[in-house]
Amino acid sequence: MWTARIVGRVVKNQVPSHRYCNSPKFYSYDCESLDKIQRYRLLCGAIIPRPIAVICTQDLKGTNNIMLASFFAPVTSEPTTISFALTVKANDEYKDTYRNIMETKEFVVCCLTKDFFEKAYKTSQEFGPDVDEFEESQLTPIPSRYVRAPRVGESPVALECRLYRSMNIGEEGKYGSATLIVGEVLAIHVDSKYFNPSTFELSVETVSRLGGLEFGTTGQGWEVQNPYWSTKNW
Ligand SMILES: Cc1cc2nc3c(=O)[nH]c(=O)nc-3n(C[C@H](O)[C@H](O)[C@H](O)COP(=O)(O)O)c2cc1C
Repeated sequence: MWTARIVGRVVKNQVPSHRYCNSPKFYSYDCESLDKIQRYRLLCGAIIPRPIAVICTQDLKGTNNIMLASFFAPVTSEPTTISFALTVKANDEYKDTYRNIMETKEFVVCCLTKDFFEKAYKTSQEFGPDVDEFEESQLTPIPSRYVRAPRVGESPVALECRLYRSMNIGEEGKYGSATLIVGEVLAIHVDSKYFNPSTFELSVETVSRLGGLEFGTTGQGWEVQNPYWSTKNW
């Protein structure tokens, strides 16, 4: 007889119910049986690496805000869209970034590289809404073309976005819930150092979040020769 952890409990010397665990190799949990921290840890440990978006917004008074988001992904290219999740704070308050996006329907997403990681990481502190986080982090604001928020001058790639859709996930305004933001990309700025304009290929080594508080860069890759999925198609 073997020991298995089922639905958050250790069941000793007992063959577990097939519904939860069909192999001694796995711990199987119903999400409902886990607390927020356990769910967060499993989710964040499972989905790695997660690229980090540096999101720049501006409020209606002109104060700039920056936040980091690793719950971030592309959506599609027609229309050019990206998405990220904005969680509600532990005190059930919305983040400044949420308020700014809802008010202005605009933001800029910048890619994060190791060169400016320390400065960008500073912006994940809780600053008041009247604090300009470009000044606080000493990152360089470069005016955008279509949106009011500036982009980060240190970043090799910036996407100017207009809010396409937002969707609440979970109980609105409660810690643990989030708003899924989908942004339509209006303009893309790429540092010529990392871009080949004849092939449209980028070679940027961005920072991603790994499990816990670990971060990493792109690391080793390998190329696959696949006649059915050629780079000519994308
Ligand atoms: C690496 C990293 C990734 C983060 N990812 C997210 C995320 O995906 N969504 C989110 O709402 N907050 C995320 N946070 C927390 C926000 O960056 C933090 O709450 C931020 O300071 C909010 O700023 P604001 O209130 O000025 O908008 C992350 C923080 C760090 C350090």
